[in-house]
Amino acid sequence: MTTTSPRPPRAAGPPAGPAPLAVLRPVRTATRYAVRHGLPAVYLARAARRGDPVGLLLRDRASREDPYDLYERLRARGPLSRSALGPVTTSHAVATEVLRSDAAGVGWDRSQAPALIRWALRFGDELDATGVAEPPSMLVTDPPGHTRFRRLVSRAFTPRATLASEPMVQRTAEALLDRLTGRGDVVDLVEAYAAQLPVLVIADLLGVPVERREDFLRWGAAAAATLDPGLPLRRYLAAERGLRAMHAFLRGHFDRLRRDPGEDLVSRLVTLPEDEALTERELHATVMLLLGAGFETTVNLLGNAVVLLDAHRDQWDALRADPAGWDGAVEEVLRHDSPVQLTGRTITRGTEVAGTRLPAGTRVTLLLGAANRDPGVFGDPARFDVTRANARDHLAFSGGIHYCLGAGLARLEGVVGLRVLSERFPRLRVAGRPVRRDLQTLRGFETLPVRLG
Ligand code: HEM
Repeated sequence: MTTTSPRPPRAAGPPAGPAPLAVLRPVRTATRYAVRHGLPAVYLARAARRGDPVGLLLRDRASREDPYDLYERLRARGPLSRSALGPVTTSHAVATEVLRSDAAGVGWDRSQAPALIRWALRFGDELDATGVAEPPSMLVTDPPGHTRFRRLVSRAFTPRATLASEPMVQRTAEALLDRLTGRGDVVDLVEAYAAQLPVLVIADLLGVPVERREDFLRWGAAAAATLDPGLPLRRYLAAERGLRAMHAFLRGHFDRLRRDPGEDLVSRLVTLPEDEALTERELHATVMLLLGAGFETTVNLLGNAVVLLDAHRDQWDALRADPAGWDGAVEEVLRHDSPVQLTGRTITRGTEVAGTRLPAGTRVTLLLGAANRDPGVFGDPARFDVTRANARDHLAFSGGIHYCLGAGLARLEGVVGLRVLSERFPRLRVAGRPVRRDLQTLRGFETLPVRLG
C-alpha cells in the first residue's frame, strides 16, 4: 500500500470559496438556493404549464411517479427532441453515442453564464454545502481530473475485490433477515432491509463506522434530493442540513484516520504521498460520492425488484426453483425500472447527434430509464421478463468513462440480497401500497410494506 506518515492535506486545488463568516451564512445559503434551485424551479414550472415534457417530468408529481407514458410521448417525437432543458433523448443508440463521445463532457462551462450568475455561484460556494453532483466530485469532472480521482479508488472496486466481498454481503444480508424472522406483522422492507444492506456493505468496504448507519441513511436521504434541479426551498434546506452533517462527520473521520490510519480505502486516501495527495475538498467529494452512491442507489434496485416480482409472482416462484436465474433477474429490474433515471452531458465542441448539429455548450439530457425501454433494442420493452436474453444491454449504469464504478458491487448486492430474501421468506408478499420516493433522478420506494409469510 502506498502510504506515508499522516500529515495535513495539501492546500492547493480548486478555490475553497470565501471565508465562512457565520453572519454571512444565511445570505450565502439563499444565494446558493436561488441560483441552483429557485431560478430553475420557476423556469421549469413555467415549462410544465406549457406542457413541456421535461418540465412535467421534473415538476409534476404524477409524471415523476410514473414517467413511462411521458417517455413514450417523447419517443414519438424522434430520437432527439427539444425541451425546456435543451435536447433530450429516449433513444438507446443516441444515449450510448453521447455517453461515449469525446465531444461531450460532464463539466459545465461557467464562463458562458451571465456575470451575475457567475458571481452568485462563486459567492454561494461552500465546501460544507457541496453535494455529490458538484465539482470536484468525479461524477461531474472531466479528464484529466476524472482519470486521477477514479484511478485512486478503482482498486477497491475491481471484479476481484468485489468477488472477495461476497461472503461479507451474504453474512450482512442474513444477519438483517435474522432480526426479522418470526415477525408476523407488516414490515417496511425498505427500512428493515433494502436500505440497510447497501449502507452496511459500503460502510464496511470504506472502513467508516457502521454504527453511524442510521445517521448516514438520514443525511443521504435528504442529500439525494440535490440531484434533482428546481427543489422547493424547504426540501433544499433539509438537503443542505444533511450535507453539512455528512461533511462534519467526514472531517472528524479524516482527522482520526490521519492520526491512526488503518488498512481501509479512506485511510489510504488521507495518507497518499505528496505527489498524489487530494486537497481537502477533493477528499470530501470523493468519499462522499462513494458513500452516497453506495447506498442511495442500491436501495432502489432492491425495492423495485421486490415490487416487480410481487406483481409477477410466477417469476418469483421460478427464481426460487432455480436461483441461477437471479443474475438475469437483477439485470431485468435495472432495465425495466432503472434506479437512476437520467443524466446529462455538455457538448464540448460542435458535433452532430442524431442528425442535429449541436453547438459547444449545449446540455443534452439522457433519459436512461427511457433508453432502457427502447423498442429498437428490447422487444416488447414494457414487459417484465427475468429471462430476457439481452437485459444486460441496459444503460442503468450509464456508459463511457463515467460508467458506474460500483456496478459489480451493486449487482452482487442485488443478486445475493434478493436470493437470500427469497430463500428465507419464500411467501413474502407486498401488504399495502408502496410509496415512491419523491425524486426524479433516483427512482425507488420510500416505504414498502410487506408481510413476510
Ligand atoms: C443499482 C445500483 C446503482 C446504480 C443504478 C448506479 C448508477 C450509476 C450511474 C447511472 C452512474 C453514472 C452517471 C453518469 O454517467 O452521469 C454511476 C456512477 C457512479 N457510481 Fe453508481 N450506481 C449504483 C451503485 C453504485 C455503488 C454500489 C457504488 C459504490 C461505491 C457506486 C459508485 C459510483 C461512482 C463512484 C460513480 C461515478 C463514476 C465516474 O464518474 O467515473 N454506484 N452510477
